[in-house]
Amino acid sequence: MKKRILGVLLVCVMVFSLLTACGKEEEKPASNSGTTNNTTNNATNNDSNTSTNNATNTNESEAPATNTASNGTKVGVAMPTKDLQRWNQDGDNMKKKLEEAGYVVDLQYASNDVPTQVSQIENMISSGCKVLVIASIEGDSLGTVLEQAKEKDVKVIAYDRLIMGSDAVTYYATFDNEMVGTKQGEYIEEKLGLKSGKGPFNIEIITGDPGDNNARFFYKGAMDVLQPYINNGQLVVKSGQIDFATVATQSWSTENAQNRFDAIIAANYSDGTQLDAVLASNDSTAMGVTNSLIANYEGTHSNWPIITGQDCDKPNVKNMLDGKQSMSIFKDTRTLAAKTVEMVDAIMQGKEAPINDRETYDNGTGKIPSYLCEPVFADASNYEEILIKSGYYTMDDIK
Ligand code: BGC
Repeated sequence: MKKRILGVLLVCVMVFSLLTACGKEEEKPASNSGTTNNTTNNATNNDSNTSTNNATNTNESEAPATNTASNGTKVGVAMPTKDLQRWNQDGDNMKKKLEEAGYVVDLQYASNDVPTQVSQIENMISSGCKVLVIASIEGDSLGTVLEQAKEKDVKVIAYDRLIMGSDAVTYYATFDNEMVGTKQGEYIEEKLGLKSGKGPFNIEIITGDPGDNNARFFYKGAMDVLQPYINNGQLVVKSGQIDFATVATQSWSTENAQNRFDAIIAANYSDGTQLDAVLASNDSTAMGVTNSLIANYEGTHSNWPIITGQDCDKPNVKNMLDGKQSMSIFKDTRTLAAKTVEMVDAIMQGKEAPINDRETYDNGTGKIPSYLCEPVFADASNYEEILIKSGYYTMDDIK
């Protein structure tokens, strides 16, 4: 009798330990992956995928949650165009840093064509990317394709440019875009001595693509500094072209910028009137302005206006050293890429990514948790320190 009771007890103990062990197996993926690790979830739920399942569980029991997320996980990186130097650098940096962290990267450029970018994103989703890092061409054209991402639990990070009108966006990694504009405006304010009441000076304004949310932030940051001087007459916009829609540049195109400035100079400055400053939101538009001034202004006027820019593209740094562009804003794409990789990692581990702004960027579906990198002022006086010593460029790149 005693033997039978002991036997029953033994069986109970064995069944109990088995049940406890199973319970633990099931908890692991949930607690480690949080909302995000589809690879783990799929593997766990999919009977036919036993090898992935085992591999995942082995990994989890051997290593802490912090370094299991990346291995083999596919990340899609969608960049707008290869035409501008900065996006090539952004793409290269993202790919390099993600691969170093153990991810497999699908990097695509869309020639500034929205349907191309949409189909690239569709492919990324259907080919198994778990996270998408997207620098959009047009902020509000991705809502439909990102619905597909949401359905498949693919997470989205808006890169540099905010994606509008989609609740599929988890994080936004960018620079402090308003600060970019503020620094450009303050540069003009300082160089013209506006604070001490100097003027009147003639100024013209050019900003970026109206479909790029950043363009409005650059414009606002600069105009908050300059508008009071326009209002009190220290700054005069001879063309009368001031409001955002009028000074915007489709696709941020150098050619469009040049065409617009050809017309502005012909109509307002061809009689010898001096143009003192141009607020240009970035380097591609600044290049259009410079090209136009070389063709229509240089030689017939004794001055060269202050011209602002942004990105420190190589040809523009050369122009800065030649005195053809006054300043640019250095946005270290290495830092932005590193911050974005931290976001990807956090997503894959079901953790919160490091962010430093919850208030500024509302994409129409709510405020998007953001990390804003700091933009840095650059001109001929500090370019060596900022661009060369930091290893961003070699001297040969910009001479
Ligand atoms: C970026 C700028 C860039 C511009 C044109 C903006 O969204 O923030 O750095 O110059 O696009 O590509």
